[in-house]
Amino acid sequence: ALITLRQLLDHAAEHGYGVPAFNINNMEQGLAIVKAAAEVDAPVILQASRGARSYAGDIMLRRMVEALAEMNPTIPICLHQDHGNNLATCMSAIRHGFTSVMMDGSLLEDMKTPADYDYNVAVTAKVSEAAHAVGASVEGELGVLGSLETGEAAAEDGSGAEGKLDHSQLLTDPDQAVDFVMRTRCDALAIACGTSHGAYKFTRKPDGDILAMHVIEAIHQRLPGTHLVMHGSSSVPQHLQDLINQAGGEMPQTYGVPVEEIERGIRMGVRKVNIDTDCRMAMTGHFRKVAQDKPEEFDPRKFMIPAMNELTALCRDRFERFGTAGHA
Ligand code: G3H
Ligand code: 13P
Ligand code: NA
Ligand code: ZN
Repeated sequence: ALITLRQLLDHAAEHGYGVPAFNINNMEQGLAIVKAAAEVDAPVILQASRGARSYAGDIMLRRMVEALAEMNPTIPICLHQDHGNNLATCMSAIRHGFTSVMMDGSLLEDMKTPADYDYNVAVTAKVSEAAHAVGASVEGELGVLGSLETGEAAAEDGSGAEGKLDHSQLLTDPDQAVDFVMRTRCDALAIACGTSHGAYKFTRKPDGDILAMHVIEAIHQRLPGTHLVMHGSSSVPQHLQDLINQAGGEMPQTYGVPVEEIERGIRMGVRKVNIDTDCRMAMTGHFRKVAQDKPEEFDPRKFMIPAMNELTALCRDRFERFGTAGHA
């Protein structure tokens, strides 16, 4: 059944587990992710970016997720707008069956320019009021995602945003977080702790200097009733980098967020863990491998099936390690 983010994360908080939020754009991703959820009896968040909505279309996305729910009647599913950029985006998502929306007011509407605090509070409060009136949940974001290595803010698409930021903008301030949640009434809060979107997060395995997990604990202590969200949580596994590169890809060596750091984050209060890049790599790696191993092959299903199996395996692993398994 489709449920709200609030319902789903309240349960996660009560039982001390985290829920992965996987991005979807098409049927194959949906089938593979929900298959993993069903195999381990886990609730799941399926999130669609603005790009996903224009790629698949709102009607298709809604019907696809309704179909996944009908096919898996015991699995709680939340359909969430990832990185909404204004009130209109969030409200049109809700009209199309989304049970939850993210209003990302850490950036201006262009999703590239870091916004000031007052703008963020005002736009997120407006979305909360409108979404709550119709029973949908709201995720806000405080602090700009970006690299503590380079000081660069990360745009929604993983490219660099304008200008250099200092650490205070790249790390969520716990006191400001209390004020933000009080004034916006958001259900979940995305925080910045040194992660960024895309595959190129860190140039080395991150330590406490470039992945500041301690801010999570400080925020959770002050806001025990707000569900914390970690964006940019792909681990960029070495085996998927190797799979891609051994099949003719050219991804330079890179490091993501180690899964054990996410497990630590969940112990410190993280409830929603956003993962897109790993899912993309799982599928693309197998597209490349089939193309390389079987150059005579032209049936798309022969490309999709191993890609979906790799994605299902990845999702299963995250459900198990985040403690989501068994909680459907
Ligand atoms: O936060 C960004 C997500 O990975 C979605 O990416 O806008 O290319 O669909 P996208
Ligand atoms: P990754 O690029 O690390 O998968 O992050 C995805 C994300 O935060 C979507 O909102
Ligand atoms: Na989101
Ligand atoms: Zn994100």
